[in-house]
Amino acid sequence: MTTLKLAISESQIQECVGRLAQLIQVDYQDQPLLVVGALNGSFVFLADLIRRMNLPIQVDFIRLSSYDESEKSSGTVRLHHGVRTSVAGKNVLVVEDIVDTGLTAQFIRGYFEDQGAATVRICSLLDKPVRRRTSVTVDYVGFEVPDEFLVGYGLDYNQQYRELRALYSLEEEIDGS
Ligand code: IMP
Repeated sequence: MTTLKLAISESQIQECVGRLAQLIQVDYQDQPLLVVGALNGSFVFLADLIRRMNLPIQVDFIRLSSYDESEKSSGTVRLHHGVRTSVAGKNVLVVEDIVDTGLTAQFIRGYFEDQGAATVRICSLLDKPVRRRTSVTVDYVGFEVPDEFLVGYGLDYNQQYRELRALYSLEEEIDGS
């Protein structure tokens, strides 16, 4: 049986989103920003984050996969949809739900640098540094988390749990114990 254990509460998340939005706003100081969400996991975080920032922004999305239907990373990042907005000369802020191995973040950084972005920064709600397999820089991090599989607030397991307002660790219980 699968059970959910509260890891980060709704109020902790909202406080953190406000803090990140403030940092980003100060760093960009009224400069236009192209905010790009990495689908699917980032859509809830991105929606909250942009509504806490007072900056001229454009929003677009990119869809990639490195995970299959299990909890395991396949190790290969595939681009399914790139952005439609032109990127050359723009400040790009990539929004991710979680940086795990860092392969996705590294791929996205290269993708925008190759398209001539003026700057590329990455903002991730969650960071699992213990799992990192690259040296990619994550510029804004909400919470550092241990090596547990988390769901809620946009993050899924088999496309479930994205709608939850808080973050939970997924625990497998052995029946009869
Ligand atoms: P990375 O390329 O290994 O850094 O993987 C990043 C992607 O893996 C995230 O955007 C998520 O889609 C997925 N992922 C990694 N860890 C978790 C987790 O704990 N819960 C849900 N998705 C995860």
